[in-house]
Amino acid sequence: MTHIDSIADSSALELTSLNPTTTVIHPKSDSAREWWRSAVIYQVYPRSFADSDGDGIGDIPGVTARLDHLVELGIDAVWLSPFYRSPQADAGYDVADYRDVDPLFGTLADFDELVAQAHSRGLRIIADLVPNHTSDDHEWFKAALAAGPGSPERARYLFREGKGENGELPPNNWKSIFGGPAWTRVNERTSPLAAADDVSDDQWYLHMFDTRQPDLDWEHPEVRAEFEEVLRFWLDRGVDGFRIDVAHGMVKAPGLPDWDGDVAMVEGTTEPAEDGSTGAGNSGPMFDQEGVHDIYRAWNMVLADYAGDRALVAEAWVEPLSRLARYVRSDEMHQAFNFSYLTTAWEAAALRNVVTASLHASDEVGAPTTWVLSNHDVIRHASRMGLTGAAVRPNGIGKNDPQPDAELGLRRARAASLQMLGLPGSAYLYQGEELGLPEHTDLDDDLRQDPAWWRSGYTEAGRDGCRVPLPWESDKPGLGFSPTGKTWLPQPDSYKECAADVQRATEGSTFSMYRDALAVRKSHDLGLGSLGWVEEFAGSATVLAFVNNDVLVLTNFGETPVALPADAQVLISSGPLTDGGVPQDTTVWVQL
Ligand code: GLC
Repeated sequence: MTHIDSIADSSALELTSLNPTTTVIHPKSDSAREWWRSAVIYQVYPRSFADSDGDGIGDIPGVTARLDHLVELGIDAVWLSPFYRSPQADAGYDVADYRDVDPLFGTLADFDELVAQAHSRGLRIIADLVPNHTSDDHEWFKAALAAGPGSPERARYLFREGKGENGELPPNNWKSIFGGPAWTRVNERTSPLAAADDVSDDQWYLHMFDTRQPDLDWEHPEVRAEFEEVLRFWLDRGVDGFRIDVAHGMVKAPGLPDWDGDVAMVEGTTEPAEDGSTGAGNSGPMFDQEGVHDIYRAWNMVLADYAGDRALVAEAWVEPLSRLARYVRSDEMHQAFNFSYLTTAWEAAALRNVVTASLHASDEVGAPTTWVLSNHDVIRHASRMGLTGAAVRPNGIGKNDPQPDAELGLRRARAASLQMLGLPGSAYLYQGEELGLPEHTDLDDDLRQDPAWWRSGYTEAGRDGCRVPLPWESDKPGLGFSPTGKTWLPQPDSYKECAADVQRATEGSTFSMYRDALAVRKSHDLGLGSLGWVEEFAGSATVLAFVNNDVLVLTNFGETPVALPADAQVLISSGPLTDGGVPQDTTVWVQL
């Protein structure tokens, strides 16, 4: 390090004033605005949250029974991953009946009870809608197979003739996001539902995901009408909104042209582009077509018929952020997941860029920004952030893969979460992150259930490691997940000390950090607050600092602690402070 550098660095390692000069890049919002603009929304993955009937698979009554955990945590709404009737070929993201609860998870009456119990506690419920594809067990797909080529039943899906002399080649070169071709020939189907009369049928059908998840043809008016009815079915039952699965995928380019690019779930690189993009987006003729926006304009009108500011949130892996913002224009959806933020490397400059770009893009259309670090499709951030050296984040971690540094991962994850919760906008939490849960990284391969595992030719461990049943009570079998102790995936040893009862009773635990942060976030109205970058750290490579309302949020990424003014009142810290300084990989909230 040169002499000049060290001077520049040391002057940057002290917060000199509790009245810092800031450059405001996002204004404060009016506090009377819709609930979803500032909401902290907690994702429940039903099969792994809590089991009430002892079969080792979580269910809806299990969620109802544990609602008070969520009330104590201080969240505003619950997003439930799919609980509909499904053969579970992709853990419920393969829906056979959009108007019923799968017996695995309970009944419609159980769902109504959950909504009533949540509402009585002031919690809202967001359901997960999967409109891009159905299950191959859906009535429409079964009818399409039975009716044969050229039938009106087939027109609701994307059946096509193959190429080659005998139609033996798929209609185009698209790949499935889970690996392998995106087309299956009817007579080569390997589904347990494949029927004897499929044998002579040599058409192909498109599936951007598993072969058991045929894509619908959204040009078909019956498809559009059906989903508007499905929205109303759940709105009538009291849901407060929907998370829309693969929201950028429903409309395909006319003629389904060949495309040589790769399709992947959220991955990201460590080198963000100037606009803050990090590889969280996909392009190509199957994604982000103009036509999807007509669908959301129609759905916006369906929701507008209902009181209570019901909301639509887009799961759209689209970049750049200005492109994503088009999904949340005022007459379309209300929120979109910010995967650019999730995939940004743990670096001050990269995060400063993505936060600025996110706020600018959403402010441009008058929508709130969202923030997210974990979900059921990515490696839990307590482990992801302990992986060093990889340029592209892997899809899952297997026994033989490089293992994360657990201590570093948790330390960074806590700092990242505290930083995220200080940002204005809406934040999404994934069940168990409030307990500091790591990924299960040494799961036996023969237990894996994610279709990405076999469809990738066993090269991607897949998503099972972030879907392990939650630990509730440390001294019970199965850590209290189920009354019988059964768990559909085994829990790693490390989950014992993460159990909710241990976390609740331990000062400084991850749970208490989240709970305190959510309380301060609410009392200081941070969700609707402003964002101003603190000027003295504006170009710093090791410190990220911003002011939101009367709270200063500061993260130190570097080795040298950042000194705070002697009279600084620290509201929360993601880890212990050293001699009044903020050590590496630590975030603090300071009262101004
Ligand atoms: C979404 C879901 C993912 C699912 C896929 C297909 O990305 O989050 O879990 O596998 O869509 O429905």
